[in-house]
Amino acid sequence: MAPNPTREDKFSFGLWTIGWAAQDQFGGPTRAPLDVVDAIHKLSEIGAYGLTFHDDDLFAFGSTDAERRHEIDRTKKALEETGVIVPMITTNLFSHPVFKDGAFTSNDREVRRFALRKTLRNLDLAAEMGAKTFVMWGGREGAEYDHAKDVGGAMERYREGVNLLCQYVIDQGYDIRFAIEPKPNEPRGDILLPTLGHAMAFIDTLEHPELVGLNPETGHEQMAGLNFTSGIAQAIEHGKLFHIDLNGQRGVKFDQDLVFGHGDIFNAFSLVGLLEFGGPNGGRAYDGPRHFDYKPSRTEDMNGVWESAKANMATYLLLKERAKAFNADPEVQEALKASRVHEIHKATLNPGETYSDLLADRSAYEEFDADSYFNAKGFNFVRLNQLALEHLMGAR
Ligand code: GCO
Ligand code: MN
Ligand code: MN
Repeated sequence: MAPNPTREDKFSFGLWTIGWAAQDQFGGPTRAPLDVVDAIHKLSEIGAYGLTFHDDDLFAFGSTDAERRHEIDRTKKALEETGVIVPMITTNLFSHPVFKDGAFTSNDREVRRFALRKTLRNLDLAAEMGAKTFVMWGGREGAEYDHAKDVGGAMERYREGVNLLCQYVIDQGYDIRFAIEPKPNEPRGDILLPTLGHAMAFIDTLEHPELVGLNPETGHEQMAGLNFTSGIAQAIEHGKLFHIDLNGQRGVKFDQDLVFGHGDIFNAFSLVGLLEFGGPNGGRAYDGPRHFDYKPSRTEDMNGVWESAKANMATYLLLKERAKAFNADPEVQEALKASRVHEIHKATLNPGETYSDLLADRSAYEEFDADSYFNAKGFNFVRLNQLALEHLMGAR
């Protein structure tokens, strides 16, 4: 039995996830729209602590000020009634035809200016809702054809846009940080900042890199054939894991947005171990929202929507239990030692040692017995992995 989620678990859901009416490229919706007030009450009931949304999820593009205010106020009322919070807000810069060639990097300058205005307005809303993270997913920033986009110029415009947004947050005194969400493709043939590595390099070129981090998504890295846990570990090491989109993906194909763990469960296991416990012997590595960006499958009715929402949380908590047991198992600790995993934390040079000292150290080269590694000195990684699998399967 999976444990029951509580608010302390910090589970949050996008309104566009549970509220997805299941329209796709090949067919119309299979479900009726979900009202935000009902969504908040239901999320509260099943143990989630947060709701996130795009501006256009709450009030349609082009709403009048009065319509917009009406939706914001009824959302705030439902939040007050339930204690659900809005940890993150994001801007829809991809649905309307105006964004067909992107927003901050559209070739059309008027569109770029409009996109910045839409985003600034949404930053004010984020501050009003008490959101601490502002996600930027640039789904339409990109191209299908190599000659259609001057990527160098587009990066300049991206930087110009993000720098402006940071300056606005500073000048308004907002307690908000930005989180860029990479994705390799879909809806564009190729999207700018396709992986978390590209995004981290970009962030380091900004005027206020301290205000900008990442919102990596499981499926987005896996669509590119990358190891999500490994990428997350590097993002944490870089101080850039500001938010996370958890879901499931089965290999290199379209963005499936399955329930968390319903894709690469082995990788999900190591991920939860990393987020919750910093790996087998670390400290807690991530304290932010555990945000699910999944799509309840098109085959499901509303009952299935809430079953799948619960499945995300249950899977996460089960993996947390398993990761705890894995770390506490003396055999695992032995295996880690045999695999010399902890030795990676020891500096390669001695304190104060220079390259001249290293060059003078005959034991490091002239007397070093490289041949002793042939047919001996294995690292025992497979044994370690099997122990992980047995814990994951509940066999230990
Ligand atoms: C996707 C993305 C989006 C973003 C969302 C938040 O592939 O569609 O994951 O769901 O996460 O737009 O900005
Ligand atoms: Mn996605
Ligand atoms: Mn996402």
